Parts: sequence; structure tokens; C-alpha cells
Amino acid sequence: MTDAQSFYGRWAQVYDWVANAPGVASWRDRAADSLALAPGDTVVEMGCGTGANVPRLRERVAPAGRVVGIDVTQKMLDRARERSARTGESVHYVQADAARPPIREADAVLATFVAGIFEDPAAAVDAWCDSVGTGGRVALLNFQRSPSVLAAPLNLVFEGFVRLSAPGTRLSTRSHASAFERRVRAARDRLTERTVDRRYETMAGGFAGLLSGTVP
Ligand SMILES: C[S@@+](CC[C@H](N)C(=O)[O-])C[C@H]1O[C@@H](n2cnc3c(N)ncnc32)[C@H](O)[C@@H]1O
Repeated sequence: MTDAQSFYGRWAQVYDWVANAPGVASWRDRAADSLALAPGDTVVEMGCGTGANVPRLRERVAPAGRVVGIDVTQKMLDRARERSARTGESVHYVQADAARPPIREADAVLATFVAGIFEDPAAAVDAWCDSVGTGGRVALLNFQRSPSVLAAPLNLVFEGFVRLSAPGTRLSTRSHASAFERRVRAARDRLTERTVDRRYETMAGGFAGLLSGTVP
């Protein structure tokens, strides 16, 4: 079992509650919108967790499209399957490593609060860009520290949040947050290299950033 599987397996129930908190819904809507989905599309969510994004993805590709949720942690997928709003004939959950997704020719890929977890985020983003065809969109939504001086106290909250929400507890809280941010930056840099027609927006006073682009 990997660090991620034991970490998220332990926290699946609590995570599900946090992932579906009311304030997070609008960020998830904007992430889904950034994919410019059309009815009939196949959209893959990498590290889909308990399926918090799935209802909005399903709605955008209905009636003939497909949503494929990939996650390495069985207990997170079990939580997703327990909710009727996150299931349906057009929804498929697959337990697999999202760094090597077992899918090709999707129309879009979404990864929310996931890129900072991978050992080699740039390679994961490469795999995600390769799994969509020409014209496919890829979007990454992540937490980050805010550059605003006024945000200093909230940046401490961010560090605590990263500690609680991502595996890797052998580091100090601050180093853990910095390593997390480096990985998010590496993922964004690779998405920037691999895509055109990019859009970047921030939310929650700069504490969340959404980058999306089209694979040429
Ligand atoms: C912070 S949660 C985010 C879940 C979901 N994307 C959301 O927005 O609520 C990170 C998820 O990534 C999954 N994960 C971590 N490493 C993974 C890997 N190599 N392949 C697939 N999923 C992975 C974890 O099991 C967990 O469900």
C-alpha cells in the first residue's frame, strides 16, 4: 500500500465532508466550466477522491457522455459509489495510478487538489496531456499560499491544511507546504509548456488557483 492509499484510506469519511463543504462548490463549478465540455464528451478526473466533482461533470457531458474517475485509494472510491448523485450509467470509477492513466482519447482531464501529491508532477501532467486528443482540455485546481502581505495569518492556515490534506508527514509543516507548492508549480509549468489557449484564475482571495489549457 502506498503512502497516499493509507493516508486517504484513513481519512476518506472526513475528507468527503470537507470536499463537499458549501464554500468549495463554486470553485468546483469553475473548474468544470474551464474544461469547456460538450454533451457526448468523455471527461476523466485524475485522483477523483470521493467524487465531489462528478455530478457537475456528468451534467455537462449528458446525455451520451462519460465520466471516468481514477483514484488509487479504494476507500475514497467506495465513498463515491455510495452517493447516487455521484454514480449512474455514464459514470465509471477505476482504481489505478493517475500518473499512468489507463485511458486514451478522452476529451478532457480534470485534477483538483491532486497535482501537489505526485512525486513527479510534470510526468503526471505529460501523461494527462497524452490521454486527451488534439483539442482536449486539461485543468488543474490547487491550493497555494497567497502573495498578499495581508494574507500572512491565512498562509499559516494553508500550511496546516496541506499538513492535514496531503501525505508526507516526515517533514516539518512549513517544509511540507513548500514541497507541496514546488510540486504544484512543476505541474503548472508543464501544463503551460504543453498547452495553448490557457486560462488562469484565482479564487478564495488567491488561496486557490485554476490553470487550464488546450492540447494542440
Ligand atoms: C486531496 S484528495 C482530492 C480528491 C478530489 N480530487 C477532490 O477534489 O476532492 C487527493 C486524492 O488523490 C488520490 N491519489 C493520490 N495519489 C494518487 C495516484 N498516484 N493515483 C491516483 N489517485 C491518487 C488520493 O487517493 C485522494 O483521493
